[in-house]
Amino acid sequence: MSDGGYGTIVMEKIIINGAKPLRGTIEVSGAKNAALPILLAALMVDDKCVIENVPCISDVTLSLEILSSMGCRIRMLTKNTVEIDSRFATGGVSPYDLVRRMRGSYYLIGAELGRWGRAYVGLPGGCDIGIRPIDQHIKGFRALGAEISVEGGYVKASADELSGASIYFDNVTVGGTINVMIAATRAKGTTVIENAAREPHIVDLANFLNSCGAKITGAGTDVIKIKGVDKLYGSTYAIIPDMIEAGTYMCAAAATRGRLRVNNVIPKHLESISAKLEEMGVEIIENDDSVEVCGNGELRRVNIKTLPYPGFPTDMNPQIGVLLCLAKGVSCLTESIYDNRFKYVEELKRMGASITVDGSTAIIEGGGMLSAAPVKALDLRAGAAMIIAGLAAKGRTEIEDIHFIERGYDDIVGKLRSVGADIKKVIIPSAVSFEKAN
Ligand code: EPZ
Repeated sequence: MSDGGYGTIVMEKIIINGAKPLRGTIEVSGAKNAALPILLAALMVDDKCVIENVPCISDVTLSLEILSSMGCRIRMLTKNTVEIDSRFATGGVSPYDLVRRMRGSYYLIGAELGRWGRAYVGLPGGCDIGIRPIDQHIKGFRALGAEISVEGGYVKASADELSGASIYFDNVTVGGTINVMIAATRAKGTTVIENAAREPHIVDLANFLNSCGAKITGAGTDVIKIKGVDKLYGSTYAIIPDMIEAGTYMCAAAATRGRLRVNNVIPKHLESISAKLEEMGVEIIENDDSVEVCGNGELRRVNIKTLPYPGFPTDMNPQIGVLLCLAKGVSCLTESIYDNRFKYVEELKRMGASITVDGSTAIIEGGGMLSAAPVKALDLRAGAAMIIAGLAAKGRTEIEDIHFIERGYDDIVGKLRSVGADIKKVIIPSAVSFEKAN
């Protein structure tokens, strides 16, 4: 909901007339979860960086707004290429109301600590998919010699000098691995992170930092070594394709019994998703930088457990959950990362899904058709799942709260329309309007 000016509240919705098979080619954009740490880590580079293949999503816009408010000079060279000049940036001034809108803003702590030896950043926000503490981030920063406190909604950190250390994460954490890697880039001496997360976006960030003169090895394994350097230099770097966006369109093709070529992917990153779709009876053809998905067969039930990379991604839980509703038989979907990732189930039940959530496992009785209904996007990936459900269901599905979806999907409506989906975004003035106070 937003104020459309002149006192009228407007609401944006996505409207889908479903049960049409998707056919054609979709281009995948740059990875959201690589773009956010790379853009914010550019704050640490006392120079100009040019970042290419940046997705047009609201979390990126928000990140650039935060950097600009800190004195970075931001220039959009193309729709997907941004120049970030951090030479005149100031630490400790990121706007609380912007920072608290997304999870990734906590990378500012590592960047400010790395560059200035102190950080003052509002606690992060992000999708409500469970408790999302930052205790491992704090453990890592303390190991590097920083004093950390959380007060008044802010994380306050300072270190006379960051010194390399050995850090063992109690649980695999993408954000913790990224944040400590960023700060350790400028620490004196060598840092070793053990039990590190192995996601492709961690490798992408390490490659970006190394292109700026950092000395990081082992990214993508569970042991990452960072030799601190005194200075980082500007570079030009292109972000990897978004594996979760790719997986989302692969599920949409299977759900509509369509045939899609998903371009600009790294098939290796999609292995766990492709493997599960093939187990369900979906035909997948892998090419160098694309996958072809043919969903014209009957979908079979499977059991899935989400795991850290290279396991089946938690960020694909809602999307595959829709597919399991369409598969013949009873499937079990177990969520091992978050404790509140099944919120989308209640929305799917409005469309006729038969799902029982028992602790961290959803028991999904598939085989029925989903029926169109008015539903809500409850978080980023749950919203994407509602789109897949609407594409599969006969009739008109309306999706509210689509701002969640726009946080992480670049032009999802346009891309789906280009492959035959009857989908549109509409702006609806609410019935209520009011005189704006002078
Ligand atoms: C990143 O979140 C992604 N977000 C998430 O994607 C993704 O689901 C997640 O990694 C796992 O892959 C961004 O990259 C911006 P974690 P993050 O730290 O870093 C617990 C999406 O849809 N934990 O790996 O917050 C935590 O509570 C979003 O794009 C601690 O206990 O994930 C969770 O249960 C959703 N202490 C688990 O670890 C900590 O200090 C994994 O969290 C940190 C995390």
